[in-house]
Amino acid sequence: MKTPESHIIVIFGASGDLTKRKLIPALYQLYINHLLPDNFAILGTSRTSLTDQEFRVRISEFLPLSDESNSLFLNNIYYQTIDYELNDDYAKLKWRLDELRLKHNILANYLFYLSTPPDLYDVIPEKLAFANLNFQTDGFKRIIIEKPFGNSLQSAKKLNISLLKNYEENQIYRIDHYLGKETVQNLMVTRFANGIFEPIWNRNFIGRVEITSAESLGVEGRGGYYDHSGAMRDMVQNHILQMVGLVAMEPPVVIDADAIRHEVLKVFQSLRPIKPEDIPKQVIRGQYTTSKIKGVSVAGYREEQGVDPASHTETYVAMKFFIDNWRWAGVPFFIRTGKKLPTRVTEIVIEFKPTPHHLFEKSAFHINQANQLIIRIQPDEGILLKFAMKEPGAGFKVNQVNMDFHYSDLAEVLLPSAYERLLLDCLFGDATLYSRGDTVEAAWEFIQPILDSWSNEPAIPIYGYPAGTWGPHESDGLIEGETNWRFPCKNLADDGLYCEL
Ligand code: BG6
Repeated sequence: MKTPESHIIVIFGASGDLTKRKLIPALYQLYINHLLPDNFAILGTSRTSLTDQEFRVRISEFLPLSDESNSLFLNNIYYQTIDYELNDDYAKLKWRLDELRLKHNILANYLFYLSTPPDLYDVIPEKLAFANLNFQTDGFKRIIIEKPFGNSLQSAKKLNISLLKNYEENQIYRIDHYLGKETVQNLMVTRFANGIFEPIWNRNFIGRVEITSAESLGVEGRGGYYDHSGAMRDMVQNHILQMVGLVAMEPPVVIDADAIRHEVLKVFQSLRPIKPEDIPKQVIRGQYTTSKIKGVSVAGYREEQGVDPASHTETYVAMKFFIDNWRWAGVPFFIRTGKKLPTRVTEIVIEFKPTPHHLFEKSAFHINQANQLIIRIQPDEGILLKFAMKEPGAGFKVNQVNMDFHYSDLAEVLLPSAYERLLLDCLFGDATLYSRGDTVEAAWEFIQPILDSWSNEPAIPIYGYPAGTWGPHESDGLIEGETNWRFPCKNLADDGLYCEL
């Protein structure tokens, strides 16, 4: 199997949770699957003072127990304490990198992973450049930046400007872990590798598109961060809009980073801005309140640790919007996301228009049983098609049936984690599944007026919803007519209010 060139991965913020829970396990999986080169090293850095050995012990907790490869892998891991603001510490970092290169016979290929608080996203790259660690003459120098990329349009622009002072765009990898999900990538394959979908993937046949990204968990100890972010910044501006981009984009000319990201950018540029007076009607925000789930009392958002007891931060967003281009003219897009909803599920529903003439009008088959193609991102990853069938027996009673494909049916398929895929892509220099600077800004352009309205007009309501329910009732009103959101269950092929959650 092809492996990347020898390299050193430097993780900034290595004492944090992401490193232990996601990055190191992902790198370990790449290692045991022989996807890393023979010569590589990982250097963790953070303010915490630790020795190499102490760092190894910390992270080994997140690796398989007493696995032989485990200790071989750990031999490539090092640690260095750093004061992020000190130029001298970057000079020391450079010496350490030289030392590790000599020891492991590695080229000067460096991947810098920024998993620190966001206020360091401009500081660290600038200091690295000060130590000449941005020049690619002797090997690649790439930077991965965790989300959030800015917390407003203005700060995202500022960050882009600051990074581009010392780096080329193709050295900057803005991560959105949703793009690393196998099922999100399969969206492109579903659309562009099948002859049957693309001809009907437009306003003539599609009545609406719905994207749900629900979580059953709450803020899980991240109250301090979340209370300054909220669902719009945490999920909509990035993960959900990226899925909208892949559902709505035109076929790219080729599968490569620029061709795909160019098409996504066009979608974002075509998002119809929501007028200030329409925001209260088209964008519903909610916050979970205390309730009982399966008989157990659950705290409301305002009681969570790190959250202001009078907080107005949204833990739920549902919105309706349009994409003003030829393909999607007039087709409403509905998206919703929230914490403490009944189940963890992310899926895309493509709802087709009803037949032009209703031959079976008087039967049980009515409008909210339109054909739907459901692309399940997680869990029970797969694809479901809902269509009408005659009920056996007298007359023409029509009912809706399911045709479903589940990834789990593929023998021995283990879906790699998003971080495995994304780290490997970056090591190969492939930015297809990373966000480009202009697309991030275009996504912010769409979101920012909504955030501004919310902060400038306190009269715009934030609706409470009991933890464990599908969000405020007001979001049902977004979808006109007899149809409603699909209420997904844990299992792809089930839906309705009563199902396993
Ligand atoms: C993160 C958000 O980016 O995505 C979290 O900060 C959220 O709040 C998470 O829980 C959801 O990711 P996943 O992969 O669990 O759907």
